[in-house]
Amino acid sequence: MKILVTGGLGFIGSHTVVELIRAGHEPVIFDNLYNSKIETLDKIKKITGSDVKFYKADLLDPDSMETVFKENKFDAVIHFAGLKAVGESVQLPLRYYENNISGTINLCKLMEKYGCKNIIFSSSATVYGAPKSVPIREDFPLSTTNPYGTTKLFLERILTDLTVPDKDLKVILLRYFNPIGADESGLIGEEPNGIPNNLMPYIMQVARGILPELGVFGNDYDTPDGTGVRDYIHVTDLALGHVAALKRVNTGGGVDIYNLGTGTGYSVLDIVKAFEKANGVKVPYAIKPRRAGDIAMCYADPTKAKEELGWEAKKDLETMCKDSWRYAQSLTK
Ligand code: NAD
Ligand code: UFG
Repeated sequence: MKILVTGGLGFIGSHTVVELIRAGHEPVIFDNLYNSKIETLDKIKKITGSDVKFYKADLLDPDSMETVFKENKFDAVIHFAGLKAVGESVQLPLRYYENNISGTINLCKLMEKYGCKNIIFSSSATVYGAPKSVPIREDFPLSTTNPYGTTKLFLERILTDLTVPDKDLKVILLRYFNPIGADESGLIGEEPNGIPNNLMPYIMQVARGILPELGVFGNDYDTPDGTGVRDYIHVTDLALGHVAALKRVNTGGGVDIYNLGTGTGYSVLDIVKAFEKANGVKVPYAIKPRRAGDIAMCYADPTKAKEELGWEAKKDLETMCKDSWRYAQSLTK
């Protein structure tokens, strides 16, 4: 299939482009390079041995996007492009609503105009808010606690509304849990700007000696060791979840929703210990107060994706830690 991958040079997008090519699809990337680098394109080519068409285009500049639609006929869109920093979204809500929501509306208008009937959307476990229990199933109640999460929840609803008048439109909402790791080549991975917010990127910077120690946000949660529990999933497994989701394309209109997680929860201290053991590197840490807005436990029930997509995460925590570290070591300080 010919697939438009918005945000295709970002962390999850670049890994998905690699797996799409490996599965025999033809991805076309557009990205505004706000949170990614053009060098990633060459790295994708190096990993796959294939050329990939790239457009520098912006969700907020419909003319730049229209060129992409004019020059290609897509079977489906995989829509990763968006801003994703929770804390920043609290400070810059308008920027988040404009980029993520207005940007996606612009994209949907072009899909309508050019007759593209399938969209796979990057949603997030954040739409479950503070879940009443774990593991989390797709039919759990939804709520959000910050503007970033609200953009995901609103976009789920907007995309769902579009399937009412357009009976041929297929919307596939993928709710990701916590992606970490990197392609085993060590060529592509996650490289956040500035001081990282997320656990694994922070651990990387401590392990590389850039930051002195990890702050563990709370050890008094109702979890086995008191630290927060999450469902960490290898980004390559997550990417393969998108390839599997393409099976649902052109199966009639409507909305399909899938959790993409492993179904296993690990605590912050589990991750620190696993990283140290896998890589033989020390990660000094100190217990700090809880981070506002954090929940104790969040992990998926991934049964639906297994049953309907034939997909399940395969890579274990040791592999996630080794692959994250291989990529981090390739970065200059
Ligand atoms: P990322 O920042 O690495 O990738 C997003 C890409 O979109 C970047 O390359 C960026 O330059 C591009 N982009 C942003 N705004 C754009 C615009 N207006 N026009 C064109 N391109 C634009 O993020 P990621 O971790 O790869 O996340 C991909 C998607 O998955 C996002 O929608 C994110 O919200 C969602 N998600 C991520 C996580 C996570 O933990 N990484 C978890 C759940 C959901
Ligand atoms: N943590 C620390 N220290 C840090 C960073 C994180 O102890 O320096 C802890 C957090 O308190 C939490 C766990 O590590 O218990 C994971 O935190 P992350 O920030 O890595 O991930 P979150 O689960 O908070 O959120 C991430 C994304 C959200 C997304 C969610 C589910 O940031 O956007 O995963 O996909 F919605």
